[in-house]
Amino acid sequence: MKDETRVAQAGLNSGDEKGAISAPIYQTATFRHPGAGQSTGFDYSRTDNPTRRWLENEVRDLEHGADACAFSSGMAALTAVFFLFRSGDTVLLSEDLYGGTWRLVEEVFTPLGVRGRYIDTSDLRAVEAAYDPSVKGLLIETPSNPGMRISDLKALAAFARQRGLISIVDNTFLSPLRQKPLDLGADLVVHSGTKYLAGHNDTVCGLVVAREPALAERVRFLQNSSGSILGPFDAWLVMRGLKTLAVRIDRQEENARKLAGWLRAHPAVKAVHYPGLSDHPGKAVHDAQASGPGAMISFRTHDGPSALALIDAVKVISYAESLGGVESLITYPLTQTHAALPEALRLRTGVTDNLLRFSVGIEAFEDLRDDLEQALSHCKKG
Ligand SMILES: Cc1ncc(COP(=O)(O)O)c(C=O)c1O
Repeated sequence: MKDETRVAQAGLNSGDEKGAISAPIYQTATFRHPGAGQSTGFDYSRTDNPTRRWLENEVRDLEHGADACAFSSGMAALTAVFFLFRSGDTVLLSEDLYGGTWRLVEEVFTPLGVRGRYIDTSDLRAVEAAYDPSVKGLLIETPSNPGMRISDLKALAAFARQRGLISIVDNTFLSPLRQKPLDLGADLVVHSGTKYLAGHNDTVCGLVVAREPALAERVRFLQNSSGSILGPFDAWLVMRGLKTLAVRIDRQEENARKLAGWLRAHPAVKAVHYPGLSDHPGKAVHDAQASGPGAMISFRTHDGPSALALIDAVKVISYAESLGGVESLITYPLTQTHAALPEALRLRTGVTDNLLRFSVGIEAFEDLRDDLEQALSHCKKG
C-alpha cells in the first residue's frame, strides 16, 4: 500500500465490530477481564490502549519500523530515548537542533551523568573526530532546526553501527512521507507528532519508532514505567490529522518551493535556507535520502530590527511557536524555540537576531506572498 492510501485510511481497519470508519475512542482507564487469568489483550491504559495502539501502528508502518510508541509530547518521546543511556554515557548530537532537546540533555540528563556533545553532523569527519569510547548514541536532525543543514543519514547510521551506538533521527521536520530514516539504517526515529503528523495545531504529541523489536520493547517498557503516554482522545486527534498528511504536505511543499524562490529574490532578504533551492549546500545529500524538500524555510533579514518589524507586520501569517500545521507560522528562534541555547552555540549555528523560521501552511500562495511583501516593506533593503 502506498503511503497516501495508508494515511487516508488511518484507523479504518481498527477491527471495530460495528464497522466504524473513524476508529473509536477508548476513553477508559482500565479494562474488565473476562475471568481469572484472562485478558481482552488490554489491561490498563498506561500500558496499552486500543486508540493509542492504532495510531502507533499507523506511524510504525509509515516509518517501516518494528513498533512505535505514542507519547504525551515530543519532549516526552525524547526523554524516553535518553532513558536508554546510563551515567557515564555520551550522546553526540547535531549542534543545530531544537532548543528544547538541548535543554533536556543539559539541564535534566547531564546532572544524571548522561552528557551531550554538539557537533556539525553534516560533516562526517567532525562526527568521527568527536567519537570516544564513552559515546553510546548519536542524535541527528536533518534538515536541522533552524539552520536547515543536511546530514548524511546512511553514512551516519553506518558510522553508528560500526561503533555500536544507538542512532536516533528526529524526523519532525519532514515526516515519514518525505524521509524514512529507518530504511537508511537508523535505529530510532523520534517525532514531535504535534507538527506534521497531527497537522492542525490542536494537540501535543510525540512518537518513537524502533527498527528492531528488542529496542522497541525497551522503549515500550520505559514508557510504561515512566507513564508519559498519549491520551486516547489526543491519539484519535493525531490519527484524524494523519489522514490528510499526504495532501497537506504536498500543498505545503508547493507553497514553500515558490515562497523560498520569491524570498530569495527580495531585496529585504539577506539569505534563505531551504533544501529545495538549487544552491543549498546539502541539496545533493538531501535529494538522495528524502523525497522532497518539505515546507520549513529559514531566512535572514539584513538586521535584527528588520526581523522584529516583519514579525509585527505579518497579518495572514501568525507569529507563533510551532510548525507543520495547516496555518503558516513565523517563529523567532532567538527568543522562542532556541532561547535555551548558550550564546556561543547560538552564534556557531547561526541563530542570530536576523533569523526567522517560517513554517509554510496550506493557504493560497498569493496571500502568503502578499503578506510577506507588505511585511518586508518595513525591513531594511540591501
Ligand atoms: C524538531 C523538534 N523536535 C522535538 C520537539 C519537541 O516536541 P513537542 O513540542 O511536541 O514536545 C520540537 C518542538 O518544537 C521540534 O521542533
